[in-house]
Amino acid sequence: MSHSPAAAASGRPEIDGAVFNPYAKDFIRDPHPAWQRLIRDFPLVWHKDLQMWLVNSHALCDEVLKDSRFTPNFRVWELAPPPKAEADKTDFDLAYEKGFFAVSTKDHLRLRRLTLPAFSRPVMAKIEAKIRDLVAECFDALGDAGRFDVYEAIASKLPVRAISRMVGVPTDREEFFHEFAVNIIKATRINISAREREAAVELTKPGFAYFKEQIAQRRTLPHPGEDFLGSLVGASDNGERLDDYEILSVVFALITAGSDTATDLHTFAIHGLLSNLKQYELLKRQPQLMENAIIELLRYGSFGKIPFFRFASEDIDFHGQTIRRGQAVGVNISCAWNDPAKYPDWNQLDLQRRLDGNLVFGAGAHFCIGTYLVRVQGGLMLSEFIRRYPEAELLDGTGELDYDYRHHNARRINRLVVRTNRVSLQQAA
Ligand code: HEM
Repeated sequence: MSHSPAAAASGRPEIDGAVFNPYAKDFIRDPHPAWQRLIRDFPLVWHKDLQMWLVNSHALCDEVLKDSRFTPNFRVWELAPPPKAEADKTDFDLAYEKGFFAVSTKDHLRLRRLTLPAFSRPVMAKIEAKIRDLVAECFDALGDAGRFDVYEAIASKLPVRAISRMVGVPTDREEFFHEFAVNIIKATRINISAREREAAVELTKPGFAYFKEQIAQRRTLPHPGEDFLGSLVGASDNGERLDDYEILSVVFALITAGSDTATDLHTFAIHGLLSNLKQYELLKRQPQLMENAIIELLRYGSFGKIPFFRFASEDIDFHGQTIRRGQAVGVNISCAWNDPAKYPDWNQLDLQRRLDGNLVFGAGAHFCIGTYLVRVQGGLMLSEFIRRYPEAELLDGTGELDYDYRHHNARRINRLVVRTNRVSLQQAA
């Protein structure tokens, strides 16, 4: 790998893993030197090792996300494996194919329209109460611990269970749902062998069977119910309805888009606040900042390491380069969240920051559908943390903070020990 930012014979600027390697340990611990270099020197560049274009500045990421000629449908990719024969497709394949990231622009619009009622305020309000209980359960289990690992106690537990409650799985089947979710996520990873993927897909079968049965039962009722699944079964637009695999694709999307991201939300939010105690104080004094705080903590933590994928559906002239039909484009949004042109003080945590036009939840047609759940889950967790541990501190000795360097798409913190200072508070009382 060379270090020089070569311009290839085609005239396009090119880099390789020496400039940007999302799996390098140094990068995972501190991505900012690489990201700042990408923004400054390579806002649009071909990555020779990743075999894709990268867009790195805030303005260019915004533009690509809002341009429907760049599709997330990976069947458009020039290097996509050949499609499976219809008879070989599993429930996993069929649910993926009907999902938010795989269908055409027209079908995607239809899917968004029909799923909207399931994410409406009344449905979500009912879910909020269930998540409130869940958050309390996670903290209660800690008792009077003087220190605890946020990853172990909160981040690895809350997100999948929150989705489980969202889709209406009874509490005694939460373990079963967890197993389903873990295997769905595993099967969508890019860095596992074909054999491991097959094994994971096999293990998703009982979960798909369970949801198919739930959907079939709802379809026999005169009113399918006002909870999340009921809203999907009952959704209708000019007589059009969601079929079984479309409904399964929504559950699939919640698991893949909403559990890893929310896991990192919890660790990075607490890490961000306890590394900036003045901001922690501010949030304690002004809880009304919570909604803005969550978005800013996500921006500041920037835990995504792999860019979001798009594929050019036609030849596209883009800022002096031709992106050929079928080429992959990595939209490096975590990098873009730290663009000095958008945020001159990008490396400061500022819970009062004006965040209009931010890309934290994407932009355009695929804008995150789970923002309500993020606000509820993140807000309830942080409020409870602040209430129970107002004097909490980070423990930054060796081994108190660690990363899962092999994680497929995030700079995953898998150990974050905090001192609660609860004992001393109780003694003081
Ligand atoms: C901290 C948490 C989260 C962050 C930072 C986040 C961020 C994003 C971003 C950037 C996108 C756009 C992806 C793209 O354009 O390729 C997206 C899409 C999506 N998100 Fe989230 N998300 C979070 C949590 C969730 C949760 C909890 C759920 C579900 C319960 C969820 C469901 C989705 C879905 C279904 C999409 C695809 C929408 C579509 O293609 O139309 N997300 N999210």
